[in-house]
Amino acid sequence: MTDHADGYVAAIDQGTTSSRCIIFDRDGAIVAVDQREHRQIFPQPGWVEHDAAEIWAKVQAVVAGALARAGLRAGQISALGITNQRETTVLWDRVTGKPVHNAIVWQDTRTAALCAELGGPDGQDRFRARTGLPLASYFSGPKVAWLLDRVPGLRARAERGEIAFGTIDSWLVWNLTGGTDGGRHVTDVTNAGRTLLMNLETLQWDPSLLSAMDVPEAVLPEIRSSAEVYGTAVGVLDGVPVAAALGDQHAAVFGQACYAVGTAKNTYGTGSFLLLNTGSRPVASKHGLLTTVGYRIGGEAPVYCLEGSIATTGALVQWFRDQLGLIRTADEIETLAASVDDNGGAYVVPAFSGLFAPYWRPDARGVVTGLTRYVTKAHLARAVLEATGWQTREVVDAMQQDSGVQITTLKVDGGMTGNDLLMQHQADVLGVPVIRPRVSETTCLGAAYAAGLATGVWNDLDELAAHWQPDAEWTPAMDVSVREREYHHWRRAVERSFGWIE
Ligand code: G3P
Repeated sequence: MTDHADGYVAAIDQGTTSSRCIIFDRDGAIVAVDQREHRQIFPQPGWVEHDAAEIWAKVQAVVAGALARAGLRAGQISALGITNQRETTVLWDRVTGKPVHNAIVWQDTRTAALCAELGGPDGQDRFRARTGLPLASYFSGPKVAWLLDRVPGLRARAERGEIAFGTIDSWLVWNLTGGTDGGRHVTDVTNAGRTLLMNLETLQWDPSLLSAMDVPEAVLPEIRSSAEVYGTAVGVLDGVPVAAALGDQHAAVFGQACYAVGTAKNTYGTGSFLLLNTGSRPVASKHGLLTTVGYRIGGEAPVYCLEGSIATTGALVQWFRDQLGLIRTADEIETLAASVDDNGGAYVVPAFSGLFAPYWRPDARGVVTGLTRYVTKAHLARAVLEATGWQTREVVDAMQQDSGVQITTLKVDGGMTGNDLLMQHQADVLGVPVIRPRVSETTCLGAAYAAGLATGVWNDLDELAAHWQPDAEWTPAMDVSVREREYHHWRRAVERSFGWIE
């Protein structure tokens, strides 16, 4: 039996590089955290895979770890919320419960040619009106089609109803609620909305999209709201209601209390994702942004967002550390970058998965420009950090053009917000203050909030918004003429990244 009187809520954040479990108390304060990394599999340039079975094992381990650190039993947890890396695609056998292939990760570019073919004469925007998304290798639908056509015999098995498709939320809910022993095959609107298969108005699978992408209905999970009880956990969280699922960026919107139209947040993780709450109607983008469901609480009307998705920000620091070996830990980049006054004329455009918003250029690849013998690794470290600031500036510009809303402050969260130099650069290049909240684990917090709302731990959004407290603020200090000159240089560097893949 779950003892609701305790009011503890657990959140699982299954991200691109690690799985985390955080337990929160009724005030939204962190009680315990556990985290484990999982393997990144790069079978070819541009391909990125995960082992979904490994992810499930790590998730169970971090849940057990967080419970142990908190000194709590499963019975003391009122609800569980799940948040996840979005678009990453898993297909598994409904009888054995085993994945039939490695998961294809959101960063993977193998479906670029398929997307171009699907676009036909209408191009990238063929499905934009119905889905809010351009046709890009980022999204799940083409990844499903690729797997069904490439894994021998899989399409026939899928058509016979033997195979299940899910993004990571579905995979976890199915396993948490029993797997082959009666697990629930569901997803939520925020994750379903990233497949290119969901109709943004009806919030259901769209038969014309399924047929265009040749995805059989039999593989699909049921689309539910982001906050409702999907089932009861067995195993490590035995008896706990599984009561929320949201894509990680949507959970961060929720955890940052961006409940009012015009509020925005940027999360700095593997990539960075800036979402602006646009209210109860989807706003179409003309400047390279996505229209996406922000969240949907139970039977209430959905809240929509405009999103600027940047594929590579934190992952660029990891690349600088792991592939180039120029630093030993990610934190060292700040000290190295701070040892020089500027970038020495160098710019790094991290188009590792092509460029996402606002360009959507699958043909782009990473470039370093402006090199002279003067440039040191410290200048490059600075250019690596600045790449995140400039990419964010580009999506903020697009967002203001699309929505007509002037962003006056930006709420930020995620690992890179611990980097003072970057946050100052961010405020400088946006020309608005950047604010980090006291609980910067907003992704987990948002999933916990949604699960707690669904189970009566919290009553309403006002109660949640009252928890939000600022922790640090950076105000713009860069001279406007310097800012615009640097931005111009950045954009010239971006142009150099185009056209590498023919
Ligand atoms: O769309 C991909 C996004 O959900 C990944 O987030 O936090 O792993 O960078 P993150």
